[in-house]
Amino acid sequence: MKRVLLPPALALLSLSACTSVDTTRRPAAPAEPVVSAPSDPHSYANTSAFRTRHLALDLRVDFKQRALDGRVVLELERLDPAADTLVLDTRGLNIQAVEAGVDGTGYTPVHFDLDEPDPILGSALRIFAPPPANRVRIEYSTRPEASGLQWLDPEQTAGKTHPFLFTQSQAIHARSWIPLQDTPLVRATYEARIRTPEGLLAVMSAENEIAAAADGARTGDYRFRMPQPIPSYLIALAVGDLRFQPMSARTGVYAEPSVVARAAQEFEDTEAMMKRCEAIFGPYRWGRYDLLILPPSFPYGGMENPRLTFVTPTVITGDKGLVSLIAHELAHSWSGNLVTNATWADFWLNEGFTNHLTYRIMEEIYGPGRGAQERALGANDLKATLARLERDADKTLMPDLVGRDPDDGVTDVPYERGALFLAYLESKFGRPAFDAFLRSWFDSHAFQSVTTAQFLAYLERELLLERPAVVSSAQIDAWLRSPLMPADTVWPQSDAFAQVDAARNAWLEGTQPAANLDTAQWSVRQWQYFLDNMPPLSPAQMKALDETFGLSKTRNAVIAARWFRLVARDAYAPAYPAMEQHLQTIGRMLLITPVYRELAQRPEGLALAQRIFREARNGYHPIARDSVRKTLSAAAKKS
Ligand code: BES
Ligand code: ZN
Repeated sequence: MKRVLLPPALALLSLSACTSVDTTRRPAAPAEPVVSAPSDPHSYANTSAFRTRHLALDLRVDFKQRALDGRVVLELERLDPAADTLVLDTRGLNIQAVEAGVDGTGYTPVHFDLDEPDPILGSALRIFAPPPANRVRIEYSTRPEASGLQWLDPEQTAGKTHPFLFTQSQAIHARSWIPLQDTPLVRATYEARIRTPEGLLAVMSAENEIAAAADGARTGDYRFRMPQPIPSYLIALAVGDLRFQPMSARTGVYAEPSVVARAAQEFEDTEAMMKRCEAIFGPYRWGRYDLLILPPSFPYGGMENPRLTFVTPTVITGDKGLVSLIAHELAHSWSGNLVTNATWADFWLNEGFTNHLTYRIMEEIYGPGRGAQERALGANDLKATLARLERDADKTLMPDLVGRDPDDGVTDVPYERGALFLAYLESKFGRPAFDAFLRSWFDSHAFQSVTTAQFLAYLERELLLERPAVVSSAQIDAWLRSPLMPADTVWPQSDAFAQVDAARNAWLEGTQPAANLDTAQWSVRQWQYFLDNMPPLSPAQMKALDETFGLSKTRNAVIAARWFRLVARDAYAPAYPAMEQHLQTIGRMLLITPVYRELAQRPEGLALAQRIFREARNGYHPIARDSVRKTLSAAAKKS
């Protein structure tokens, strides 16, 4: 099997070159240093020869076959006038025919080869496209097990009468439903025609026809246009029995009929969040911002598909306690969708930035106390994750993901260590200067893909050059590359959590029974913090908590997940049925993997986890299934 893995070390080399530069001796601000063109070890695409500029999809959604079936046209820019082979990414696609043409005229069938699949990267599709060809048209269909698609039976939806389909393209799953250059280095606009069974609505990360959703006219034939160029991981589609409810002139919610009103209520602050974001970080450049509420098997909390964030229903709690998720996905409209990580090793540029923006927005809208709780909880999670991770590089902002699934790099490290790094810089330069810096970073890199090296070069030029004494390159290097947290990390503090610590201690020391604790006003975040910091408990203590606070019966899935982690860890058997129910009905990885991981620590727990997983796995998304499978098999190997 041929593999086109490009030299991985380029970005690292240029990075160390620029962090070690002596800022005091540099001539006055030159243009941003030219950083060598990055390459993406998670794509076969030969992006130095061809770049996709526009993509036209025409797909039929077949629920019976669990297949998307149709064609895609890729419009290409030729960077290499002599190149005669276009290499695309695919995974598990049936490729029926490939044609090449010039400017959309005179397509002719061309030869193509589909390589043997690599377990992580899929199969390179090599298309003979000699000059001057600059378009290809590919007839294809997907397979039922496509990693980026979840086909739901009616029983898995809120309404229980219609099937549902959604895509999840990040990180490298777009290739399982579209043959394309599946790398965030490439941006393209797109258009699509999607045909569905009558009565169902299709929505995409694009301009949607709101009228169709609002008046219930379901032709089964929908057209979409995405005028801004986006990376492949943001192409998204969902099909189901969906309604639309507006929240403001430019925001609204798509959801199943029984969910849409509750969702619109829960997320009514979205417009206010947008206004705050725009005031601090610059214009929102995507037109509308709508939310799509998915069924509970959605494997993430949210996914920032442009114009249409995908959201787990588990954040609809009735008290806005988890709306930071919306702030997070909205913030990606700047950090991620507008300025995009060049490769998955630069992931902290997406998620660390986004968490920093999230905390800023939460403080602006709900006050500093709420922001502090979010920050402190994130930092708490980070500490636990750092203690658990085995490879040193995984604890840094510069992981080595070559040869690994980029989904494995999705830990608290890029999110929370990244956000703490930015908060550290903010503390050094002051909030006004740092906000302005971030805004100029977004403006000057809009619609571009960026590396960590580029960020550091920009930081140096815009902030460090004038005030070189504020932060040294050794300090920055420690933030990026040391497996240890820098000694001068400012760990966030929360008064609300100090109260929780006091309550927990009083209970653990026996000075207060559980019923006497003053928990009536606790936020979800306080409950999380209360449970996350429990030492091992006896069955009697677990019983007291459960009976006093009804934890096994809570309808808040985030509190439930943290409680069931304790149930698993401390082998509290009376709550096993409720725990199993949780694992059977929810597919959001963050709410299930920690419970499985805890169960797998002990032999009886591992056996139970394996049994539950066998029964639950068909309801999980392929990505979640893979993640739980890896968690359990790693534990089985250890024991
Ligand atoms: N873009 C991510 C989800 C993602 C990351 C999908 C990597 C696939 C690969 C999204 O913005 C996210 O971070 N979701 C979090 C939300 C949370 C941090 C508020 C989640 O799903 O938990
Ligand atoms: Zn995110």
